[in-house]
Amino acid sequence: MSLKTEFNSFFDLVRKRRSCRNYSEAPVPDALIRNCLEAARLAPSACNKQPWRFIVVKDCELRRKLCSDGLLPGISMPWAQKAPVIVVLCAETSILTHTIAPMISKVQYHLIDIGIAGEHFVLAAEAQGLGTCWIGWFNEKQVRKILTLPRSLQILSLISLGHPASPMEPPEEGKRMKLEEISRII
Ligand SMILES: Cc1cc2nc3c(=O)[nH]c(=O)nc-3n(C[C@H](O)[C@H](O)[C@H](O)COP(=O)(O)O)c2cc1C
Repeated sequence: MSLKTEFNSFFDLVRKRRSCRNYSEAPVPDALIRNCLEAARLAPSACNKQPWRFIVVKDCELRRKLCSDGLLPGISMPWAQKAPVIVVLCAETSILTHTIAPMISKVQYHLIDIGIAGEHFVLAAEAQGLGTCWIGWFNEKQVRKILTLPRSLQILSLISLGHPASPMEPPEEGKRMKLEEISRII
């Protein structure tokens, strides 16, 4: 593939990704989930610490609990219940890179790392025709309890995953800030 074609197909993928809030009940084959995890596994991370941990919840009852008790009130997300997979994105932090180094640099490296790995996951899903939505409005305590996660894992986001029930609308250009507003080339 030429460089130009490679960029175009990458850019098409990025451009067409939208948060999916309407899932069909069709299950997601494990092979597709594993492809998403593999894409996340290859993400860069500070000091190559790879702090990401993915809990992939397919179990119907656990998903029901996550979507009823595990989400915070105020934003209604009934669609989450229909997603056949809920991924819980966690960080297992290390003392040096994630506690001591940020005291000096003031940068929370694990948050960056988990964001990158999570988006690798999301884009791999998109490339396979799957839909995702980051869910940051969750109840940390409840999610920990429902999944009996140890204290050593920091829960940072949920991501719903499934087949979109209807074709996704293309992103509206007006919903993104202009390039000049977010960047400066000096
Ligand atoms: C860290 C993060 C947390 C988010 N949390 C939620 C959420 O709790 N509920 C929700 O419906 N969407 C959530 N979103 C999705 C955003 O609303 C969405 O990405 C944004 O509006 C842009 O729309 P698009 O993803 O369709 O391009 C979240 C996105 C990110 C990156």
